[in-house]
Formats: sequence, C-alpha cells, structure tokens
Amino acid sequence: MFIEIDEVNKQYNDKENQPVDVLKDINLSIAKGQFVSILGPSGCGKSTLLSIVAGLTKTTSGKILIDGKSITKPGKDRGMVFQQAALFPWLTVMENVTFPLKKEMKKKDAEESALKYLQMVQLGKYLSHYPHELSGGMQQRVAIARALAMNPETLLMDEPFGALDEQTRSRLHLQLENIWTETKKTILFVTHSISESIKLSDRIIVMGTKPGTILQDITVDLPRPREDYKKEMLEIEDHIMSYLKKEIDKVVSEELEYANSH
Ligand SMILES: Nc1ncnc2c1ncn2[C@@H]1O[C@H](COP(=O)(O)OP(=O)(O)OP(=O)(O)O)[C@@H](O)[C@H]1O
Ligand SMILES: [Mg+2]
Repeated sequence: MFIEIDEVNKQYNDKENQPVDVLKDINLSIAKGQFVSILGPSGCGKSTLLSIVAGLTKTTSGKILIDGKSITKPGKDRGMVFQQAALFPWLTVMENVTFPLKKEMKKKDAEESALKYLQMVQLGKYLSHYPHELSGGMQQRVAIARALAMNPETLLMDEPFGALDEQTRSRLHLQLENIWTETKKTILFVTHSISESIKLSDRIIVMGTKPGTILQDITVDLPRPREDYKKEMLEIEDHIMSYLKKEIDKVVSEELEYANSH
C-alpha cells in the first residue's frame, strides 16, 4: 500500500501532566490515488493524525510509511492545508504561494504556477494583498492554492473548505475532483461535512473519540459525477449521520458531566 499507518498511538500530557490517549491503535492502509475522507467529532484526533502523516508531529508509538519509506519529517511529496490557513503575514498572497516553490523552480515558473492556482481559487485580483487584508475564507483559499501549486503526490487537507460559502465550496469540489482525476494524487481529507465526504471520496473513515480510534471504514463506490446519484448519497449520509450522532452525543454528555461536577 502507498500509505501505511501502522499501530499509531499518540499521547499528550494534560494540565496535571498525566498522559492522555489522543490516538489509539490507528491502522490504515491507503492505496495510491485513493481519495480518503476522515470524519469524526471535534477533538477526536483528526488534525493530529494528519499532522503525523505530514511529519510535523511525532507518534508516541507506531509508524507511518509512504511508498515504503518511514516518515520522520515533512517532505515536498506531501502538501498540507491546515485547519487554520497558516500564511506568512509579512508576505503577499503571491509571495505566500511562491515561497515553497522557489526552492524547486525558477521565479518565473513559480509565479506562473502560483497564478494558475490563485486564479482557480478566484484570487487573481488579490496577488499583492497581505493576509490581514483578506477574509478568513480568502486566506484559506490562498493556503489551498499554495498546497496545489506545490504539486505534491499526497495532499493532506484539514477542513480546507470549512470557512467557505456553499457556492465557492461546490466550485472548489469540482476543481479538486478534476485535479485528483488528472493527477492521480492520494488525498487525505478531513471534514465535518458528511455530504462533502460522500460527494468527493472513495472511502470514508469515521473516527470516535476519547481516545481517537477508527470506528468505521466505508467504501463509497458510486460513479462520478455524483450529482446524478442524489438518492444513493442521501442513504449513505443517513447511515453515517446516525452513527456519528452517537459519538457526538457521547462528547456532549461527558462535557455536561464535567461541568456538573465542577
Ligand atoms: N499540542 C497539544 N498538546 C496537548 N493536547 C493536544 C495538543 N494538540 C492536540 N491536543 C489534544 O488532542 C485532541 C485531538 O486534537 P485534534 O486537534 O487532533 O482534534 P480534531 O479531531 O482535529 O478536532 P476538530 O474537529 O475540532 O478540529 C484534543 O483533545 C486536543 O485537546
Ligand atoms: Mg482539527
């Protein structure tokens, strides 16, 4: 398999310095070119898992293999879109996107590639703006353009469309699908939107919380474009919704219990 997540465990220390299991016994094999979504309640460890695959966070135990090689640090084979845009505030939109490209190519080529993707996310008019001059959704689109312009084999996307309006989101869904079909990238895509995950992915991993574990591994084998399969998509959505609701209820009742005991 292209990506192997092998017996990954992650603990963080809480405020009393006690280790808390965040991810427990995560095993996941992902084929090259697969589009995999990850769903799960807030705090279940989705971002932590993505950050481990990105090589930015160390596991407590277990390992990640990509194409047979053990991952210990970030690499240009993996492009990450963070949950928060993570732009350099002192660089313009264009400079933010070309920054990681400059090491790989000539300035002119970097700018050409950056422009292509910035236009794709409809920011062609904002090249010389600074991040603080943009809305949250616009900043997020710069971060998406930056990851795509790097043209990595694997895209790690953490709620990339979370801050966008429905229409922009739909347009970017199409563009991401096109890029994925054309370039056969492997995509790990975290989202809170069940319908988004069904629309886009081959496979949906549903995680549970405390500790973060994989509860379900669902194959979505509907043909694309999936707009033609609304009924089938709704059936899958209902199935996942009822399953996730239990997990989310668990988080809410734990929170209430804690509040009542303090
Ligand atoms: N650096 C850290 N130090 C201590 N605890 C952390 C750290 N990073 C994450 N955590 C804890 O790990 C758990 C998982 O966090 P994570 O950000 O991976 O969740 P998530 O599934 O991405 O949630 P959301 O859907 O809200 O983005 C949370 O309980 C969080 O408090
Ligand atoms: Mg997260």
